[in-house]
Amino acid sequence: MVMVERVVQAFPQMEPEDFKVLRALELEMRHHEWVPFERLLERTGFDEKELGYRLSRLDRWDMIIRTRRETVGYLGYQLRPEGYDALALRVLVEEGIIEGLGPEIGVGKEADVYLGISPKGVELAVKFNRIGRTSYTKIKRYREYVKDKRHISWLYVNRLTAEREFEALLHLYPEGVPVPRPVYQNRHVLVMTKFDGKELAETRVDDPERVLREILDAYHQALEVGVVHGDLSQFNIVVENDGSVLLIDWAHWVDLSHPSASELIERDVRNVCEYFRRKYRISVDYREFLPDEEVYGDRG
Ligand SMILES: Nc1ncnc2c1ncn2[C@@H]1O[C@H](COP(=O)(O)OP(=O)(O)OP(=O)(O)O)[C@@H](O)[C@H]1O
Ligand SMILES: [Mg+2]
Repeated sequence: MVMVERVVQAFPQMEPEDFKVLRALELEMRHHEWVPFERLLERTGFDEKELGYRLSRLDRWDMIIRTRRETVGYLGYQLRPEGYDALALRVLVEEGIIEGLGPEIGVGKEADVYLGISPKGVELAVKFNRIGRTSYTKIKRYREYVKDKRHISWLYVNRLTAEREFEALLHLYPEGVPVPRPVYQNRHVLVMTKFDGKELAETRVDDPERVLREILDAYHQALEVGVVHGDLSQFNIVVENDGSVLLIDWAHWVDLSHPSASELIERDVRNVCEYFRRKYRISVDYREFLPDEEVYGDRG
């Protein structure tokens, strides 16, 4: 279990030299599964004593892992998710995006979401992607986006996921599609405006027909921008406290010209319609809500 709380605790004690070692590890992990001590010496310019001291601090905060000489054949190091968190948090703080982190406000399949407080006191949602720590097959799903197929690390996949979701929100939000406002992205972390409401799965709405219509409208608005959600379900739809609908979790989106677009659209729309049929006994034929063929035509 990754604990952002522990990173937040260690954060005030961290010195520029600690970050320098984390940064060196991050860069070297592109080339090595286990980064040799010597590479870190070169990258940081520290002497052995200083580097040893920094590594032992980072180890104490669980931000790195050290291999045994016997296993890998040399003394090597890896960044842990906590170390990656620290690197991203530092940028968020230095850029004046957040001043502090509050409690966890959401746990998803592949992400932890925390409350973030901006320097002006605005509440934000800070999403930390956590893909692949438990299963490598999940990581393999991302092969398609990865140019160098040999090297698919959790670092890379999580950064890519945050970048992709940020990109989707940047397309959608300015066009008025009801999604959280994108605020910032660094590494595997995405910052957006925080909503006040409940996931569809966790609430019972009084006017299901209206809500379903709003969801499908929002979904079609996104299609007009060329963005296919690809993971739409009662867990990724929010009903805000004022009753309006918000579509969240755009990490799995594809462009409308993508070969799987029509399949994904069908699945998204069917999921939602099915859910309303089961829970609210609304009879809708999901096929009525599928876009016309020509929607793909001029893009594909
Ligand atoms: N902008 C936000 N404001 C408030 N809470 C949020 C926000 N974004 C996400 N959450 C909460 O965090 C939960 C997890 O977020 P999300 O669905 O984006 O992650 P996930 O399901 O792990 O995503 P992914 O499929 O990308 O791995 C949401 O269900 C929601 O409860
Ligand atoms: Mg989700």
